[in-house]
Amino acid sequence: MEPGERHPQQIRQVLLFFVFLGGSLVCSEPWHYSVAEEMEIGSVIANVVKEIGLAVEDLVARGARVIFDDYKPYLQLDPQTGNLLLNEELDREALCHFTEPCILHFQVLFENPLQFFQAELWVKDINDHTPAFLDKQIILKISEATAPGTPFQMDSAQDLDVGKNGVQNYTLSPNPYFHLELQDSDDGRKFPELLLDQSLDREKEPEFRLTLTALDGGSPPRSGTTLVRVLVLDINDNAPEFERPVYEVQVPENSPVDSLVVRVSATDLDAGIYGELSYSFSHVSTDIRKTFEIHPVSGEIYLKALLDFELIQSYTINIQAIDGGSLSGKSAILVRVVDVNDNAPEIVMTSLTSPIPENSSPEMVVAVFSVRDLDAGDNGRMVCSIQDDLPFLLKPTFKNFYTLVTESPLDRESQAEYNITITVTDLGTPRLKTQHNLTVTVSDVNDNAPTFSQTAYTLRVRENNSPALHIGSVSATDRDSGANAQVTYSLLPPHDPQLPLGSLVSINADNGQLFALRSLDFEALQAFEFRVGAADRGSPALSSQALVRVLVADANDNAPFVLYPLQNGSAPCTELVPRAAEAGYLVAKVVAVDGDSGQNAWLSYQLLKATEPGLFGVWAHNGEVRTARPLSERDAVKHRLLVLVRDHGEPPLSASVTLHVLLVDGFSQPYLPLPDAAAAEARADPLTVYLVVALASVSSLFLFSVLVFVAVRLCRRRRAASGGGCLVPEGPFPGHLVDVSGAGTLSHSYQYEVCLTGGSGTTEFKFLKPALPNLPPPDHRTDESHTFLKGFEFI
Ligand SMILES: *[C@@H]1O[C@H](CO)[C@@H](O)[C@H](O)[C@H]1NC(C)=O
Ligand SMILES: *[C@@H]1O[C@H](CO)[C@@H](O)[C@H](O)[C@H]1NC(C)=O
Ligand SMILES: *[C@@H]1O[C@H](CO)[C@@H](O)[C@H](O)[C@H]1NC(C)=O
Ligand SMILES: *[C@@H]1O[C@H](CO)[C@@H](O)[C@H](O)[C@H]1NC(C)=O
Repeated sequence: MEPGERHPQQIRQVLLFFVFLGGSLVCSEPWHYSVAEEMEIGSVIANVVKEIGLAVEDLVARGARVIFDDYKPYLQLDPQTGNLLLNEELDREALCHFTEPCILHFQVLFENPLQFFQAELWVKDINDHTPAFLDKQIILKISEATAPGTPFQMDSAQDLDVGKNGVQNYTLSPNPYFHLELQDSDDGRKFPELLLDQSLDREKEPEFRLTLTALDGGSPPRSGTTLVRVLVLDINDNAPEFERPVYEVQVPENSPVDSLVVRVSATDLDAGIYGELSYSFSHVSTDIRKTFEIHPVSGEIYLKALLDFELIQSYTINIQAIDGGSLSGKSAILVRVVDVNDNAPEIVMTSLTSPIPENSSPEMVVAVFSVRDLDAGDNGRMVCSIQDDLPFLLKPTFKNFYTLVTESPLDRESQAEYNITITVTDLGTPRLKTQHNLTVTVSDVNDNAPTFSQTAYTLRVRENNSPALHIGSVSATDRDSGANAQVTYSLLPPHDPQLPLGSLVSINADNGQLFALRSLDFEALQAFEFRVGAADRGSPALSSQALVRVLVADANDNAPFVLYPLQNGSAPCTELVPRAAEAGYLVAKVVAVDGDSGQNAWLSYQLLKATEPGLFGVWAHNGEVRTARPLSERDAVKHRLLVLVRDHGEPPLSASVTLHVLLVDGFSQPYLPLPDAAAAEARADPLTVYLVVALASVSSLFLFSVLVFVAVRLCRRRRAASGGGCLVPEGPFPGHLVDVSGAGTLSHSYQYEVCLTGGSGTTEFKFLKPALPNLPPPDHRTDESHTFLKGFEFI
């Protein structure tokens, strides 16, 4: 109950009390006044004086008052005029609320005498209130599955005014979904109702706003509005849908684990849980599950394992998206693995022949190998090469096989080893390459003969060498290796079959040192030559030759040998000199030879000792003994001369000879000079002359031998009979040393033991000088029994 309603009852009870108290004082019919609400204060409602018919003065005198039932001073009595004035602004809605009509009861009271007049003040409504909805905003949630025609009741609007001024009508903003209908409620009021005209589609229009307007019936009408928000509630009426039916992606095979492959995305028009999607694989192999991973919410697909183009080139991954209502959409991802040049080429050696002989035929296969590259396309195409400067060639055979063959002839002696680098490069980006190193050795073939350091060697040996003397070396080298380069030396059979080479020299087969096997004798052999061979141990062996010439150098090893006069004869020769001989008379000629040559054989003669010095002289160069002065009677009959013959070797060797001279009286001079013409002829043509001389000599020799033999016999018989001297017929000395050896060596000597009287005149001893230069004299040779004299002099 509102306070406005309680007051009038209390007022009525009080009024009833007064009515019972002085009933006779109350007028029968109440006065009736009406006033519009919100009239200005002081507005005149009625005039009491005129109503009752009193004088104005009476009002004060009778103590007139206005008393409302609720004792509120709504009206005021003006004592001067008797007008009832509005004491305050009346608000019908406050006074009566919805009660209609709104009547305020009051009494006009006169105290003296006491008199009551009943009166009513009707307060009239004016349209001073606007219809108002309780809620400024109404949210209407409607499922999109709601059938058309479904009504939705709305709250009615309130308007404090009553009657016609209350809410009379509702309107709805124009929209395609709803129309408005007014319904009557039980209390007779009207309320609006929204009726659905067509199905809602949340996916099309999830929410819209309507304005509901309430209108009252005032004039002008007042209106109030409320906002109706219609929220369309979702149902799972849409399946998820992927952006594309197939996603095609290319992934390099070297993508790291956890890298993003692709992001798929599906849409579901539904909202809420029906639009919440979860991505997953659909019917995929374990391979794919091992390799890929899908994020259920983001739809991102990651790599879970490394890809290998060489194993799998593409994947087809079926994916699905499921919403909260179990509707699903499907798609597929085609993952193409892109080859990356991640595999270097490989070289697999199949065979290798090393060493290879240097005389290999061209195109001989040295190695066989294959190459491969696991990559595809250009990444797997390969180029194979070796260094340019090698005598080898790469030849592709079939598929990926190559052979390494020799291109040009090999020569171990110039290069014995080849380091071959096989390089295989693919054509990918970046290029990958692989190298393989081979060492091919070239084995030796006996293709080089030993070569002597010189084509001819000249060795010089002094005669009388000690046996096994190292006289020199030959050396040969062989460019091959191993046994093919092992050189052995040998003596080859000499051209001259007479040369006893085997007993002269030997060669060390290993080092080529040459040794004289025996003591060489210049007088016997002045020079010889032979060939040495050097052979390697190859198979077949190769060999070469060199010429060795050994020159024997002379040493002064022969003392002069006195041919005349003979020294050891049982009957020493005695020269007879007539006392009448002039100075310069040729007594005898000492004839000596020397086996040596050159200086060593250059003899000089010297009178060493004489019975009577000064009587005889010896010509140093030709050994002629001549008288130095005329003989006289005083000179002794017998003379003994010691003549020294000496060569010019170093050291010199010498021999001495004793000459017996007998001075005789009346000894006719048998002088038998060689004709000068013959001598000149002999010089002019030595050979002819020589032969003639030799012939003559031999003839005369024989003649003289017979004569001498007879003479000696006679002489001995006579000496035996009388002890007298030997009478030898005078004649030229016929002895000769004949050189017959081609080398000019005195090989045979013919000696004739001849006793001659007198000098041999111009007879000369000649021999061919050897064609050898003079060698330095050998070491002292003192084994000769000849007398060695120093400081002799020529006479
Ligand atoms: C309510 O208002 C509408 C639109 O202005 C009108 O068509 C309708 O007749 C009115 N209803 C009443 C009861 O006045
Ligand atoms: C080959 O290689 C080896 C080892 O690297 C080296 O000792 C040799 O000298 C090389 N040979 C050639 C001919 O380069
Ligand atoms: C092959 O030889 C080359 C040149 O001698 C060298 O640089 C390279 O390192 C070698 N390769 C191998 C795999 O030994
Ligand atoms: C004398 O000597 C020579 C050589 O020395 C010798 O050949 C000869 O037989 C000797 N004569 C005598 C008689 O002894």
